[in-house]
Amino acid sequence: MIRPLAALASAALFALAPAAAHAQEAAIYSSMDAVHPVWAKEAMVSVQEAVAAEVGLQVLRDGGNAVDAGVAVALALAVTLPRAGNLGGGGFMLVHDAESGETKAIDYREMAPASATRDMYLDADGNADSNLSRFHGLAVGVPGTVAGMQLALETYGTMTLAEAAAPAIRLAESGIVVTADLADSLKALEKRLKTWPASAAIFYKEDGSFYEPGDVIKQPDLAATLKKIAAEGPDGFYKGEVAEKIAASVQEAGGSMTVEDLANYKAVIREPVSGSYRGHEIVSMPPPSSGGTHIIQILNVMEGYPVGYLGHNSSDTIHLMAEAMKRAYADRSKYLGDPDFADVPVKALTSKAYAAKIRDGISLNRATPSDTILPGTLAPYESDQTTHFSIVDKDGNAVSNTYTLNFSYGSGMTAAGTGVLLNNEMDDFSAKPGVPNAYGLIGGDANAVEPGKRPLSSMSPTIVLKDGKPFLVTGSPGGSRIITTTLQVISNMIDHGMNVAEATNAARIHHQWLPDEIRVEDGGLSRDTVAALEAKGHMIAVGSVMGSTQSIHVDADKGLLLGASDPRRTGSATVGY
Ligand code: GLY
Repeated sequence: MIRPLAALASAALFALAPAAAHAQEAAIYSSMDAVHPVWAKEAMVSVQEAVAAEVGLQVLRDGGNAVDAGVAVALALAVTLPRAGNLGGGGFMLVHDAESGETKAIDYREMAPASATRDMYLDADGNADSNLSRFHGLAVGVPGTVAGMQLALETYGTMTLAEAAAPAIRLAESGIVVTADLADSLKALEKRLKTWPASAAIFYKEDGSFYEPGDVIKQPDLAATLKKIAAEGPDGFYKGEVAEKIAASVQEAGGSMTVEDLANYKAVIREPVSGSYRGHEIVSMPPPSSGGTHIIQILNVMEGYPVGYLGHNSSDTIHLMAEAMKRAYADRSKYLGDPDFADVPVKALTSKAYAAKIRDGISLNRATPSDTILPGTLAPYESDQTTHFSIVDKDGNAVSNTYTLNFSYGSGMTAAGTGVLLNNEMDDFSAKPGVPNAYGLIGGDANAVEPGKRPLSSMSPTIVLKDGKPFLVTGSPGGSRIITTTLQVISNMIDHGMNVAEATNAARIHHQWLPDEIRVEDGGLSRDTVAALEAKGHMIAVGSVMGSTQSIHVDADKGLLLGASDPRRTGSATVGY
């Protein structure tokens, strides 16, 4: 029988299992595998929230392609996973078109309003005021998701926005059943959400008490906004009543976003960043994300070491990965920003020659202190509230999409009368050179605030190709840790021969240059591995789990799709047929 990963909510898979599953089992799973991926023959959807995963699967069953399903999933997640799914945020979608063999990146990252200025987050003493960039009207960037979904559909889809929005409208109208995950997150975020009456009215009961698992939350305002989008296309969001309500709410909260800012929002198609790793092509998100650039940069450095031989999560492998990571994050702080405003040296950063130069500076036995690489200070912050989904359709088209409100539930502010939660993505700009953002990431001039500019991101939707065809579709939430999480799924499969479920489950590490420490998942490394790393001069910080990958491996040898949702979060699902 199908043996889905134990922690996955994939009951639907059992229902979908063909009778021939028994005959296939030996070929699908090796007795050496520690855990097993979900498998399907034709098409697969891997999403952090199970109801939205089923929405995507149904679109694929009904003949829609991967982009149709991706747009339907993204809109459904705005209803079912309100802490990260969104209309009021932005993100990136990587699309691989099987017919042309091309992969393109759709950039629907938020943009700074026209009134934004470089010093808008500085107080009278010239210090960065994080309240302004995180929990205030000034924190809200002009949302990109609706424009991005439209651009994806008109470029690659077969459905209209109205068709793709239909499941989301249904869910918003008839209500979603509160899961334990949703109930917990609403309890945890009570203070932020109750700051804003329009948010409190949606996410808490009339008397202010909590929704518990099994309760139903209806979102009639959000349904009405989705219906407007269905009827009028993006104009239903970026112009008229909805735009006026968004601008009014932002202004009431002290911001200066206008209806003109909303009307001027543009999603764009960009060339992805690409590189190679041990016979695979890595295609990922270019600036304004730093993700793809640094995944390739780190892999290039790792390629010069026998990582597979050194072993998964051995102290030698972790040492070398961490040394590569810290140098990449140091470069990020200086060079990365919106390519429409700053010259980002992507080619140089992703070149094999630069990787060789980096390797020259890495000692095989000794950690290089971060303050000898570049100076800085930091204030780490825990936030993983972005979300990723991966989709492969029956024709071999693939979608890798990561989008976000930035923090969990974004700024916490819902634009009154729209049901639309608004992002606080402006915090991803560098408020002041050298001052860290919420993820402890430091930025420079390339990521300074400017009107119409997109804040630098770490989101890394990635498609790994083999012989020109998708081999792995993956990505993750996790703030600054998105890059290293995605990287380790890739390395686990290519270097360590893991199947996609093992590669997902394996303990993760992270180094982001500052703070100068290797963060490890609690219980992820043995005591003697930690001791060996400390002996090399590394500081080890034990933290909670990192990331929530949603991945699909296209196994050309088996002629199957093998997928895995990350067990680190509940409620996710990988489903297929
Ligand atoms: N807001 C997190 C990111 O874009 O990287």
